[in-house]
Amino acid sequence: MSTCLRPTTAADLAFVTALERDPANNRFIGQWSDEEHLEAIAGRARREHWIIERDGRPAGYLIAYDGRDRAAGIYVKRLLVADKERGTGKAALAAFLDAACARPGADHVWLQVFDWNARAQAVYVALGMRRYDPSPEEAARLDRTMDAGREGVSRMRIDASAWKARSPAR
Ligand SMILES: CC(C)(COP(=O)(O)OP(=O)(O)OC[C@H]1O[C@@H](n2cnc3c(N)ncnc32)[C@H](O)[C@@H]1OP(=O)(O)O)[C@@H](O)C(=O)NCCC(=O)NCCS
Repeated sequence: MSTCLRPTTAADLAFVTALERDPANNRFIGQWSDEEHLEAIAGRARREHWIIERDGRPAGYLIAYDGRDRAAGIYVKRLLVADKERGTGKAALAAFLDAACARPGADHVWLQVFDWNARAQAVYVALGMRRYDPSPEEAARLDRTMDAGREGVSRMRIDASAWKARSPAR
C-alpha cells in the first residue's frame, strides 16, 4: 500500500465535496462551501489543500493552515479518508508531518478533534500527538489567528523535534 499527498486542484473539487458532504462523514468534520475549498486550493490566506492518494487514486484529503508567521505552528484543519480503518489516514498524516516538520521554522503541528471521535484520536496518539491545553490567553490568540476552539473539542499537537526524533529514517 502506498499513500502520498499531492496538491489538490480545482478538478478534484467534486471528489472533495462529495466526500465531505456524505452523510457518513459530515458529523465528523466541518463543512465548507465550494468557494472556501477553491480558496484553499488556490493557497489563499496561507491555506493549503492536499489530496491523499492511495495506490495512485484519490482516497481522501487534508487541509492545513500555515501559522508559522504567527507563531502558531502548522494547523491541520481537516482530514478525511473515504475507506476507513485501512491505514490510509495514519499514513497520510505521517506523510504530512514529514513534510510540515521539515519546513524552516516549523516547530509544531496541531489540530482540533471532537472529544467523542475516538478513532481519529487513536490515529493522532499513535503518531505521537498529545492533548494540548494552552493558557486562556494563548487559546484566545489561536482562536483569533488560526481557528476557533469550542466546547467538546480538544487541541492536540506534536513538536517537530519530537516527530523527527521518532522517525529518524524519514
Ligand atoms: C480519522 C480518519 C482520518 C483516520 O483514518 P483511517 O484511515 O480510518 O485510520 P487508520 O486505519 O490509519 O487508523 C485507525 C486506527 O484507529 C483505531 N480505531 C478505530 N476505531 C477506534 C475506536 N473507536 N477507538 C479507538 N481506536 C479506534 C484502529 O484500530 C486503527 O488503529 P491501529 O492501526 O493501531 O489498528 C478516518 O477514519 C476518517 O476520515 N474519519 C472521518 C473524518 C474524521 O473523523 N476526521 C478527523 C477529524 S479531527
